[in-house]
Amino acid sequence: MLKVNIKDLAVGMVTATPTYSKTGQLLFPAHTTLTSQQISYLEFYGIPSIQILPENHVTEELLDGASQEETISFSQKVRKSREFHAFKVDYTKKTQLVKDSFNRLITQDKDCDPNLLFDQISSLYSNHLTSLSVFDMLHNMRQIDDSTYSHCINVAIISRMMGKWLNFSENDLNVLTVAGVLHDIGKCMVDHEILTKPSALTDEEYKAIQNHPILGAKIVEAYPLDERIRSAILMHHERCDGSGYPNKLTSKDISEFAKIIAIADVYDAMTASRCYRKGLCPFEVIATFEREGFNKYDAQYLIPFLNHVINTYISNSVLLNDGTLGKIIFINKDFLSRPMIQTSNGDYIDLFKRPELYIQAII
Ligand SMILES: [Fe+2]
Ligand SMILES: [Fe+2]
Repeated sequence: MLKVNIKDLAVGMVTATPTYSKTGQLLFPAHTTLTSQQISYLEFYGIPSIQILPENHVTEELLDGASQEETISFSQKVRKSREFHAFKVDYTKKTQLVKDSFNRLITQDKDCDPNLLFDQISSLYSNHLTSLSVFDMLHNMRQIDDSTYSHCINVAIISRMMGKWLNFSENDLNVLTVAGVLHDIGKCMVDHEILTKPSALTDEEYKAIQNHPILGAKIVEAYPLDERIRSAILMHHERCDGSGYPNKLTSKDISEFAKIIAIADVYDAMTASRCYRKGLCPFEVIATFEREGFNKYDAQYLIPFLNHVINTYISNSVLLNDGTLGKIIFINKDFLSRPMIQTSNGDYIDLFKRPELYIQAII
């Protein structure tokens, strides 16, 4: 068993013991093969180091046991639906459009108007109003297309929804959507090998990644854009407690749009698939935001976001960590990630009163 610093963790390492958050919540069991998603999750929790199995101790049997937990998938149901198929076709086209626009903006093509980006992707947020949550469709798309462009589209759509919940004007919604699309344009200037590197990053590589908000803000400087767009690009990795980058700003100095985009960005990054594994269950992400998020994110945007997201999961079937199957029947407003569950044999479980249980997957 080796104690490994979070900074030195690499995708594919296998945990030797169960990993717990500082508040005692099980993050993942022993013998979990780490994904980049899970590594960022540990960073988010501020966990300094974890126990890793030496390579020669990793056996097929151990890994089989761990992967069985991932067999039931709500995603598979979504992906089979007709609505998702139509969404996928449209989304793929729009990803190409965004890619073309980014390439033109990076080369400072003056004929490209970034103000029109909201219009380029508008069919994704206005045409596909179906019984499926738009969140589920976005997350499933990212399991197919994990590019920066698709992440930017997701963040734009989630940010726009947040703006709607906050009753923004149509014009503000459009500006916010453009800011969402462009938030990571600076990543296109970062070496692709660094962005997709599966092993631990060197200090220099970290610095290169952390420079992307500055690069992005520079790219758009040449265009006549609402100032809120440039500042959102520059500040979307700043955190209210000063723990963000590149300028370690605190809440009062971070722009409104940057605060909204920061939440949409983290939510998308944590629930989406990275490399080859599934993303985290949305309930785990919501639990993370509830426990640790209020220092980093502005409550006036985080609370309405969590309340709305959770409502899209009422009456979904879920799998608990002890193997119980059930349905979400009631959301606990004070503890969103711990709703009331009705089990398949008719019993009720109030997760608020059962701290040892949690929702492991939506099925
Ligand atoms: Fe970013
Ligand atoms: Fe991002």
